[in-house]
Amino acid sequence: RTLGDGSQWGISLSYIEQPRPDGLAQAYLLAEEFLAGAPSAMVLGDNIFFGHGLPQLLDEADGAPGGTVFGYHVSDPERYGVVDFDAAGQARAIVEKPQVPPSNYAVTGLYFLDGSAPERARGVRPSARGELEITTLLETYLGDGLLSVKRMGRGYAWFDTGTHASLLDAGNFVRTLEERQGMQTGSPDEIAFMHRWIDAAALRSRAEKFRKNAYGAYLERLANS
Ligand code: G1P
Repeated sequence: RTLGDGSQWGISLSYIEQPRPDGLAQAYLLAEEFLAGAPSAMVLGDNIFFGHGLPQLLDEADGAPGGTVFGYHVSDPERYGVVDFDAAGQARAIVEKPQVPPSNYAVTGLYFLDGSAPERARGVRPSARGELEITTLLETYLGDGLLSVKRMGRGYAWFDTGTHASLLDAGNFVRTLEERQGMQTGSPDEIAFMHRWIDAAALRSRAEKFRKNAYGAYLERLANS
């Protein structure tokens, strides 16, 4: 489905609906035609990432063969897919919501997978909770020696905002940061401007669209800086 023509960014935007919450690996089945054999990046809508050097980390994952996922140290790993490392520090398994976590490293909801992901997803059977688990898909990469698990260090903030409490935590973090720095986090307009994908005039017209709120004022300031 087309979401809009995306002409202000010169790209075409579309989305595909998942009819039921049947698991993250299903995304690759739904998107198979769209992907047409290309590698892809999937990010979960309730995941928020912040950290200096994030663009470089993503660039590296983008060019890497096979699959790349990120392990992040958390206090409550049992809520996530968890990485099991061997003595040499290499990932040997990923376990979905284990009662006894093999480590404190959760797999974040950001997945860079090569063009074989849809084909692999076809082989994934539903788990006990009835979902096509992303973890099962990742394990096929791991089994083929094609999964790179990068640690996202302590200088990064990662939030899974799937509960009211965690959404509020993330909101407070972003508010604190934005108030202190006087800069927005994750503004697509700002990012496009910084990369020179859009010029000051285009940024100003975006600012106009949001002129009644603080976001519009922020874009206006950027366009004039
Ligand atoms: C999903 C994945 C899990 C991953 C988490 C990250 O969990 O199944 O492996 O660690 O996202 O946010 P869910 O949101 O389905 O509980």
